[in-house]
Amino acid sequence: MMNVKVFPSTTALADFAAESFVQLAGESIRRRGLFTAALSGGSTPKLLYKELAVSERQRSLAWENIHLFWGDERCVPPDHLDSNYRMARKTLLNEISIPEGNIHRVPAELDARLAAFQYEEDLRGFFEGEWPRFDLVLLGMGDDGHTASLFPDSAGLNEEERWFIANYAPKKQFWRLTLSKNAINAARNILVLVQGTQKADMIANVLTKGEGEYVKPIMLITPWDGRMVWALDVEATSKLPPDLIT
Ligand code: 6PG
Repeated sequence: MMNVKVFPSTTALADFAAESFVQLAGESIRRRGLFTAALSGGSTPKLLYKELAVSERQRSLAWENIHLFWGDERCVPPDHLDSNYRMARKTLLNEISIPEGNIHRVPAELDARLAAFQYEEDLRGFFEGEWPRFDLVLLGMGDDGHTASLFPDSAGLNEEERWFIANYAPKKQFWRLTLSKNAINAARNILVLVQGTQKADMIANVLTKGEGEYVKPIMLITPWDGRMVWALDVEATSKLPPDLIT
């Protein structure tokens, strides 16, 4: 049974996501002395960052034990308008007391393949084991069913070995940088944030595993040994059968 939570507004959705972040961080630090999160780009995760920045609860977090990474990044410098890092820097990172050394930016100003190689090296230097086990991977979903930067018909969907890759999106005709599906599925917690009527058809398709010409990229995301929560606003669920919603 999928864990689907529906919220009456984007504000309520952002509140839930911020509270989930704080709770998971506190729990991870209590258990392992550390909390690792892979941030997402997009307008929906941005709501979470803004909410988290002003949340009283985040001020009690031991930010020195928290490490932030990116689940994906655009192939642009960190000060570019399209940069996921820039978005997180402006909405969250400048508002919290996290040590700069705990912010693991993707070197997206480099050639895409070199950036992916370097970031994978960084991840392998930080995480032990066969796969990175993030405490939390934040994801959004595009209306084409992409997540992170795993786009339909992209070669990255078939990546089985690498943790972090340069991925060409043929329909969008751009390169992106992204965690592979396996690196995401190794996470302890995956939180997918989706809002708006423009996502309703895809949400209905994905959550009911509807028949489609191909498996949508986000359908490849199922944690191996972790928990996955879909946090949706009521508009995004307008095409879902009622029995699917917890
Ligand atoms: C990005 C994100 C991407 C995003 C979806 C949904 O870099 O843009 O990683 O996967 O989460 O496109 O974006 P919205 O929430 O803005 O619709």
